[in-house]
Amino acid sequence: MTNFGKRSIPPTVMVIFGASGDLTSRKLMPALFNLSVDKLLPERFFLIGYGRKSASNEHFREILKKSLSAHSRRPIEENAWNSLAPGISFHNGAYDDPTSFEALKSKIEGIEESVGEPVQTIFYLSTPPSGFLPILENLGNSGLARLHHNTPSASKVIVEKPFGRDLESARELNQMINRRFAESQVFRIDHYLGKETVQSLLVQRFANSIFEPVWNRNYVSCVQITVSENLGVGSRAGYYDRSGALRDMIQNHVMQLLALTTMEPPSSLDPEAIRDEKVKALQAIKPLSLGNANAEVVRGVYTEGLVGGEKVIGYHEEEGVPSSSFTETYTALSLQLDNWRWKGVPFYIRSGKRLKQKVSEIVVQFTRPPAILFGENSNRPLSPNLLTIRIQPDEGVSLSLNSKTPGLETKLQPVNLSFGYDTTFGSNTPEAYERLILDSMVGDGTLFIRGDEAEQSWGLLSPVLESWHTMAGHGLEKYSAGTWGPLAADKLLLQRGHEWITNK
Ligand SMILES: NC(=O)c1ccc[n+]([C@@H]2O[C@H](COP(=O)([O-])OP(=O)(O)OC[C@H]3O[C@@H](n4cnc5c(N)ncnc54)[C@H](OP(=O)(O)O)[C@@H]3O)[C@@H](O)[C@H]2O)c1
Repeated sequence: MTNFGKRSIPPTVMVIFGASGDLTSRKLMPALFNLSVDKLLPERFFLIGYGRKSASNEHFREILKKSLSAHSRRPIEENAWNSLAPGISFHNGAYDDPTSFEALKSKIEGIEESVGEPVQTIFYLSTPPSGFLPILENLGNSGLARLHHNTPSASKVIVEKPFGRDLESARELNQMINRRFAESQVFRIDHYLGKETVQSLLVQRFANSIFEPVWNRNYVSCVQITVSENLGVGSRAGYYDRSGALRDMIQNHVMQLLALTTMEPPSSLDPEAIRDEKVKALQAIKPLSLGNANAEVVRGVYTEGLVGGEKVIGYHEEEGVPSSSFTETYTALSLQLDNWRWKGVPFYIRSGKRLKQKVSEIVVQFTRPPAILFGENSNRPLSPNLLTIRIQPDEGVSLSLNSKTPGLETKLQPVNLSFGYDTTFGSNTPEAYERLILDSMVGDGTLFIRGDEAEQSWGLLSPVLESWHTMAGHGLEKYSAGTWGPLAADKLLLQRGHEWITNK
């Protein structure tokens, strides 16, 4: 066992299904390498890449080393690479071929024999979702899913997003997984949960006494969550057109941010205690009203426009997008939580492509101070205090306060108290995948989505998808690339007395 803080990691084999793909080279291998540099991998660590195209171990290692040069946050350290490389091999096989899984099992048993103690195996499902079912079936039938069952070295499975396309498919996927693996062995990835600011959200809320007393309907006027991109679909039209903004971003990343912002304090830092509270927060969300177009739900698609001064084409002109497509590249929702803490507070969430700026942030807007003493003779009401939790870029937190501008007159202006991760702690913070892979090895599911969380989130959003399906293109708003989205999304807030803070 290798000790990591108070936790220990047994010797480990990680099998990546779909190891020839983009995710392995851009995220997984750089994460494993950086964990190795930090000496956080178990002393006995083995990586098996699984794929349909045949490759020698040497060739596979070469590809991975090249991917490190392109994508690792730190330069290749030969010592770290040399300690990792001998344990890396490639296993050629189809995803639906039982004999390839039997051969994989023999390989893992061979590694275990050479190590001389129980080895935990982590199966990383990094193929497109269509590959998940045959892999899970074969992991079950071959006995690989039950290796060292009920011991600290029990097999584990990491499942990449997207986790289903709707409530029904998410339920089916959960059943498929839970037939072979106990829930404690399952790690559903949402890489947003591995980001520093997201992890730090609970620390800010529950390790500082100034926030909790005001974190409720008495002091919060609204909460806004924005996950925006300035890029278009690029070469991913094939995937994106079957997905859209709601499936791609809202159902997972944005709903996770919402759950962490609104959950009650957990009774402990036990992963189940935290995830229980997240599920309760998601359960409190009122079903959306879908009859009245744009009342609580807005969807849009980008048309040509200017991004960063450059002219860009509209979604329907992108290569691979059918002209008949009704896929939304933008979604905004106004949500309400029907519970004691949040009753009456609107939660505005949105995500989209080809917006003005790439930013992920949570803004908590507090109630305005009364216009007594200051602001009573002004046309402009006092600015509300804003707590902004910036997830990317420039991770950090800022709090806006009204302040007096220097001079003989009493004039007020909002100013920011800011904390930036990079300026305070340096810029080389671990990537989300480093944290998540390490946690899966330790068996800590806190930063992973539990099956019921995924279903709860889909339960809220599947009716929206169904209504859009029925409406076809009706209600699909247009917005110019490089703007903050359709006007209907501004109206969504204006009719409730708010405006998007990030747009200012
Ligand atoms: N790339 C990202 O940034 C990213 C971000 C978030 C989530 N994800 C998720 O992570 C998983 C892997 O992503 P990826 O970008 O690495 O995927 P990918 O490049 O499309 O596929 C990975 C590998 O899976 C194998 N594969 C199995 N069935 C396939 C099929 N029907 N079509 C194409 N390839 C198939 C292929 O390997 P062989 O031909 O060698 O068998 C392929 O190289 C996906 O579930 C994706 O949704 C990716």
